[in-house]
Amino acid sequence: MKKIKKAVIPAAGLGTRMLPISRTVPKEMLPIVDRPAISYLVEEAAAAGAEDILIITGRGKDAIENYFDYSIEYEQKLTASGKLDKIEEMRNICSMANVYFLRQKETRGLGHAVLTAKNFVGNEPFYILYGDDIIVSETPVCTQLANAFESHGKPVCGVKPVPWESVYKYCSLKAEQNGDGSYNVTDMIEKPKPEQVYTNLSILGRVLLTPDIFDILETTAPGAGGEIQLTDAMRVIAQNGGMTAVDFEGERFDLGSKLGFLTANIKEAVKHPEVGEDFKKFLREFVADMDK
Ligand code: UTP
Repeated sequence: MKKIKKAVIPAAGLGTRMLPISRTVPKEMLPIVDRPAISYLVEEAAAAGAEDILIITGRGKDAIENYFDYSIEYEQKLTASGKLDKIEEMRNICSMANVYFLRQKETRGLGHAVLTAKNFVGNEPFYILYGDDIIVSETPVCTQLANAFESHGKPVCGVKPVPWESVYKYCSLKAEQNGDGSYNVTDMIEKPKPEQVYTNLSILGRVLLTPDIFDILETTAPGAGGEIQLTDAMRVIAQNGGMTAVDFEGERFDLGSKLGFLTANIKEAVKHPEVGEDFKKFLREFVADMDK
């Protein structure tokens, strides 16, 4: 199988749903227990074999870049107290892959953010991981997409059925089963009106695209919300030859929403090796108290 070596993580969005914290803390730096969301994404892409990972940032997002740098002050302190394993653990964060940064100078939409990655990507297929979508899974979702790319030879999107009453917040795919659990997508629409809904299958957080997306993005007009939508560009690919959709294994958390952020923290906290057991005990007592 040909390895996908590049990944792009758009993380320049303003995060208005997470105001007021997003005024000074990028939503991608919000913690899930003790690691920021962006760390989960880089870990997933690296686990899927990506060697070069580009994070698209913007003004006020310097904390993302700092996270992937060495922390000399901490290392001095940890050396003095003999905690060398902790230093190694922190340095591993910086060596998972080659992590690059580029600024999207204006937040003109996800499609516009992806277009800034054109030169980085060059002439190879690449993963896109949406910067606020964390997916906890047995097999990295990127690997699941790469397997479908290998089988069907078409660009791939990661999808899930969403509640019918919420499809208007996502996108809707025109899709037919391939017979192996995946779908062939021939059309899609971002933020559909009720009469435009094809299915309740929506793209959630992961796609594997080929570089022809860039020519399309260059001529994609602003769409829903006045933003250049990646869905509008992928639609052209779906209409001309199709895309594959994979209903991926894994649980997705939308870190761009308050409820998603809180849910991710609770679900990951109960599994955490250091605090999990104590946190479960706390939760049980807390819920019992709440129900009194
Ligand atoms: P979202 O639409 O979820 O992000 O974009 P947003 O615009 O920050 O959200 P709200 O609605 O204001 O709360 C999905 C991904 O695309 C990135 C975001 O950072 C997020 O990871 N994005 C979006 C960009 O990189 N640039 C943009 O111009 C817009």
